[in-house]
Amino acid sequence: MFAQLFRTKPVEIGRHSGLKKCLSAFDLALLGIGCAIGTGIFVLTGIAAALYSGPAVVISFIIAGLAAAFAGFAYAELASSVGGSGSAYGYTYVAFGEFFAWVIAWILLLEYGVGAAAVANGWSGYFINTLANFNIVIPEAWTKAPSQGGIINLPAFGIIWLLVLVLISGVKQSSTVNNIMVAIKLSTIAIFLAIAIGHVNTENWQPFMPYGWFSTQADGNNIGILAGASLVFFAYFGFDAVSTAADEARNPQRDLPIGLIVAVSFCTLVYILVSGVLTGVVHYTDLNVSSPVAYALSQLGYSWSSTLVATGILAGLITVLLVLLYGLTRILYAMSRDGLIPAIFSEVNPERHTPTRLILLCGSIISVVAGFFPLGTLAETVNIGTLASFVMVCFGVIALRIRQPNLHRPFKNPWGPVIPVLGILSCGALMTFLPDETWHRFLVWVGIGIVVYFAYSMHHSKLRQRKS
Ligand code: ALA
Repeated sequence: MFAQLFRTKPVEIGRHSGLKKCLSAFDLALLGIGCAIGTGIFVLTGIAAALYSGPAVVISFIIAGLAAAFAGFAYAELASSVGGSGSAYGYTYVAFGEFFAWVIAWILLLEYGVGAAAVANGWSGYFINTLANFNIVIPEAWTKAPSQGGIINLPAFGIIWLLVLVLISGVKQSSTVNNIMVAIKLSTIAIFLAIAIGHVNTENWQPFMPYGWFSTQADGNNIGILAGASLVFFAYFGFDAVSTAADEARNPQRDLPIGLIVAVSFCTLVYILVSGVLTGVVHYTDLNVSSPVAYALSQLGYSWSSTLVATGILAGLITVLLVLLYGLTRILYAMSRDGLIPAIFSEVNPERHTPTRLILLCGSIISVVAGFFPLGTLAETVNIGTLASFVMVCFGVIALRIRQPNLHRPFKNPWGPVIPVLGILSCGALMTFLPDETWHRFLVWVGIGIVVYFAYSMHHSKLRQRKS
């Protein structure tokens, strides 16, 4: 049994697929940027500045960006040498074997599912703001989670269902659509920066670090720049989608590392600019609002631009949502194909060619989560999962260097294990800055996953059947 738990997939298994190889390094970078820029920068920046970091939220973004970059380099090495579209799940299967691959896949489900719920919450904030600009007001009870004094966040609940219908209809996001959406998102950011930068008042940056580096308050909440970093890390979640496109890349060995590294670096730069300017035009204490970028513009008196920017953000967040929902079904599909979850999860509707039942099931759960939990809680839950999978990918690089030293590595991190070790330390440290409650939720989720593995998955694994 012990041997089965750690049975690894050979590198070749993930290699071939019937997908068309059409993506360039540029497309891959845009894919990462398209998935990453979203609720993290457009909403969480405000919450993090007001409650965790103050104007030093810029430093929180830099710290989170460094952790993501170290992990990005680890992803790049594995994506170029292991290949396949499995992302962290596929790499872990090759590096550590089935049990850890299962745990990572289970964590990825949490990340993508709760991530979609979190982005739906962010979308809801801008949606409500845009409606208000047209004098349409939704009663507050229907815009907030119960823990915030509301009944349900109806727009967040509704947008998930709308996208479920889109996904069921068989619409797939092409890289052209993604590129257009990234262009809209970046134009929106450019408009904001162009208008706001001239209004920066450096007095708003005082005090720069009102909550210090890190402390735990009497109510158990963590504050400070490091706690802020562990929250805004959400803004980087998704850039690793680049690695899931390995099978569609024209020259994956060369282009995946480029795509990953360009995506993280570009996002970090954008986040520094946006968070710096945002805290420069509105005092950080006023930023705990659901649509801070639009709020800042309307505070400056640019109400028309505020509506325009909010609309751009709404469109941009929809792409992030689609990628997350699509990614979730892809992971479930891969797990089902490997026999770790029942075949029903990879059943495709013969008419629409989409996994209809799977999408409906995912949509039902995610819409409820989106409607009943507040954004901060959701984002922290996603982050602990993302950070754990990043740590695992960094360990995977080291393990594969030891186990398969002669594996062809078109992209190899310099300085031996230094970069993956830095990734493990930085992502691991960010995990420790998350609240205890987040840890409890995470451990319960992983515990359930382990039970499911021993009760079902290990007995139905295709790898087991192939080897026995
Ligand atoms: N990183 C993505 C966002 O910020 C998920 O919305």
